[in-house]
Amino acid sequence: MELLGIDVGGTGIKGGIVDAERGELAGERFRLDTPHPATPESVTETVARVVQHFNWKAPVGAGFPAVVRRGMVETAANIDAGWIGRKVESMFQEATGCDFSVRNDADVAGLAEMRYGAGRGCDGVVLLLTLGTGIGSALFNGGRLVPNTEFGHIEMDGRSAERRAADSVRTRKKLSWKKWAKRVDDYLHRLDFYLWPDLIIIGGGVSRKHESFLPLLTVKTKVVPAMLRNDAGIVGAACASLGQLQLPTH
Ligand code: BGC
Repeated sequence: MELLGIDVGGTGIKGGIVDAERGELAGERFRLDTPHPATPESVTETVARVVQHFNWKAPVGAGFPAVVRRGMVETAANIDAGWIGRKVESMFQEATGCDFSVRNDADVAGLAEMRYGAGRGCDGVVLLLTLGTGIGSALFNGGRLVPNTEFGHIEMDGRSAERRAADSVRTRKKLSWKKWAKRVDDYLHRLDFYLWPDLIIIGGGVSRKHESFLPLLTVKTKVVPAMLRNDAGIVGAACASLGQLQLPTH
């Protein structure tokens, strides 16, 4: 079965047709820059252009970088504040004529990793963290998701953890791998202390460079890189279009 998934990010809005049996892109992805300012109207228009590109007429799933409850955006840490309170699902639906399921971006990436990637077959407590512009989290127990966890915002040294340990901080402050890994390590120790996961999966673009920082971590819990890398957002979003966010992990 082929499904369309769209990943709405801070810098790009990416779409791709996904082969749901294999959990892979079935063709080229299509990317447009996220408009600036990324207001609800301009982002909706860009999402509609992505849907048009694929000439898609069936349901669509999208990952969105905020808390999304019952189709409504509830937070705006790394997106335009104008999104708060907006019904993102109905907006995308009206602009495209397609049914939309919109979920938190890390939740859908986690879903893809649990179904097809690094979390496959893991029945315990799994925590996926996406280290990117911000930090997104997805928490699973026995393959079931607790939606909209926001562990990127636990407080560390008086500020949101994502302001210390996101990958964007590493690049902006030109931190060495060692310095940044120490920040990530402190953060993982905190999460470990509260959540006691069996497995931590590190996603986001930086997971491609996992050799540079995973070996420097001292946390006891097993930490592995995401397997779907940058595609997890699109693949997981596509799965969300089925309306099943609690997919079996095997
Ligand atoms: C947001 C999360 C999102 C994460 C990654 C955070 O700032 O609060 O909802 O999942 O960034 O985009």
